[in-house]
Amino acid sequence: MSNKRLTQARRNKLDEFYTQLPDIEAELKHYKQYFYGKIVLCNCDDPRISNFFHYFSYNFEFLGLKKLITTCYKSKERDLFSNNDSEHAIYLEYSGNKTGGRVPVAEEIGIKLLKGDGDFRSSECIELLKQADIVVTNPPFSLFREYVAQLIQYNKKFIILGNQNAITYKEIFKLIKENKIWLGASIHSGDREFQIPKNYPVTAVGHREDVNGNKFIRVKGIRWWTNLDYQERHEPLILYKKYTPELYPKYDNYDAINIDKTADIPCDYTGIMGVPITFLDKYSPEQFEILDLNPHFFSLKEQGLPKIKQLTLKSVGKKDPYARILIRRRGR
Ligand SMILES: C[S@@+](CC[C@H](N)C(=O)[O-])C[C@H]1O[C@@H](n2cnc3c(N)ncnc32)[C@H](O)[C@@H]1O
Repeated sequence: MSNKRLTQARRNKLDEFYTQLPDIEAELKHYKQYFYGKIVLCNCDDPRISNFFHYFSYNFEFLGLKKLITTCYKSKERDLFSNNDSEHAIYLEYSGNKTGGRVPVAEEIGIKLLKGDGDFRSSECIELLKQADIVVTNPPFSLFREYVAQLIQYNKKFIILGNQNAITYKEIFKLIKENKIWLGASIHSGDREFQIPKNYPVTAVGHREDVNGNKFIRVKGIRWWTNLDYQERHEPLILYKKYTPELYPKYDNYDAINIDKTADIPCDYTGIMGVPITFLDKYSPEQFEILDLNPHFFSLKEQGLPKIKQLTLKSVGKKDPYARILIRRRGR
């Protein structure tokens, strides 16, 4: 296999992670009020295997949805890396169970063929996106930046899964700083289990196979990303530590103090503080202002201020090797 194809293959393999129903339920319960009369789009989802399709078709009447649209990507490397045996990219539109009774499976609703490969960026998929009010899915992690950019471009509400490292992407951080997107309500630590294709070669620690040969792996650093508001993100973090210059050394090259654990943010410091990216799990926009990110320092560039490469703490004998969010308390 050529290098190019191998890279592509690796990417495809990484994209085939199927979200588990309890994880979807745990997040979606925070947003019920937004769904009444709305069109939901799941645009990276084979309706025959997606738990997002399952969740929304099963809860269609409970949520009062207007329509559910689900589109499936036809992977070009399908026979190698996907469980899916469809020849074509497909989609379906479900407008509820008019006759009452049980929720039909995808085939009963009527699967339609897409002209292209179902890429969320294709014009026919964008036409479906335009119809949608709220997009909910787990998109391919390798295309996360592009995926979010498209949702923002078309001004869509969304609840999607991604990795917490996306916090450090320039485009994503800018949206976080502007309070246009934030982390979801239900995942703030640990790992989550995903089903993967049976032919996926797994060596990772923490993978398991059930009695039917279905394979699962646990993935760390997963977070929900959304631009729908929920109550908990407005609750302030309880701060109890007091600032002392000894406990909270200043960086040598930036007027801010270093904080290694979010829980250690002092309650009485009003200057700039460098905190770990996991701070966003506790972030309330009324309590803190987000200013910048080490090592990118976007705002320094924007203001034409001298560049720095990385925060340094030579005074305590170390360079700060971690990404840090630079924040400041709001108010007093
Ligand atoms: C992480 S998986 C999640 C699947 C499903 N949403 C779920 O959560 O169970 C991402 C899915 O996106 C599909 N995909 C990859 N590239 C895509 C693209 N350009 N457009 C739409 N879907 C794509 C993959 O085939 C894969 O099934």
